[in-house]
Amino acid sequence: MSDETSKGERLQKVLARVGFGSRRSCEQLILDGKVKVNGQQAQLGSRVEVESDLVTVDGAPIGVRPDLVYYLLNKPAGVVTTADDPQGRPTVIEMVPEDPRVFPVGRLDSDTEGLLILTNNGELTHRLTHPSFGVEKEYVAVVEGKPSRSSLRLLREGVDLEDGKTAPAKIALIEQETIRLTIHEGKNRQVRRMCSTVGHPVKRLIRTRIGPLSDRSLPPGSWRELTTAEIRSLEKSVADSD
Ligand code: URA
Repeated sequence: MSDETSKGERLQKVLARVGFGSRRSCEQLILDGKVKVNGQQAQLGSRVEVESDLVTVDGAPIGVRPDLVYYLLNKPAGVVTTADDPQGRPTVIEMVPEDPRVFPVGRLDSDTEGLLILTNNGELTHRLTHPSFGVEKEYVAVVEGKPSRSSLRLLREGVDLEDGKTAPAKIALIEQETIRLTIHEGKNRQVRRMCSTVGHPVKRLIRTRIGPLSDRSLPPGSWRELTTAEIRSLEKSVADSD
């Protein structure tokens, strides 16, 4: 815990973000003496480093509130990200526990594989999907043909799509016909359209990272709960800068 002048985030802001109500009601929680940082009574104006300080409300560490759940799913191809599919295809919602009801954070095309977060934390969902927070998403795309250096440069600098030019991206050719793309926008079918536009349609697309989250050992079709440290680092990746 540190004082007003140091680094970190204001405690009431952190509490509001993880779901303890408005900033005002979080201030009240602090004033009521319900919040501790590293075992010590918190003060209004305290700042915390969410990754290293232990914040508790009524004795329960934040980030492990029992009513909030966070799943990381390795979505296989052929599964849709919507809650219901008119064509009767399997949905990501059916792949994780039913209760409490969770929602996918953003969407992957039915053909796209890889990491998807599902949660009932609406504020975190909003932040992770809103373009203003610019969370990085990393994809591995197997494409038709070997992209030339100029195609890779185009992908890197921005591709003109019908709904606008894409922002600069991190691009690496990792095998003959395999590209790693790191983007921070969420245009519809963005990676597929970017690659097609430069002449290399995508044959297979896998999301391998969302912000700080990756997991190479989660088998396709499996899910697991996020750890408290992962929840905190996700929260941090979408924190307001103040
Ligand atoms: N880009 C795509 O083209 N599809 C996805 O599912 C995600 C990103």
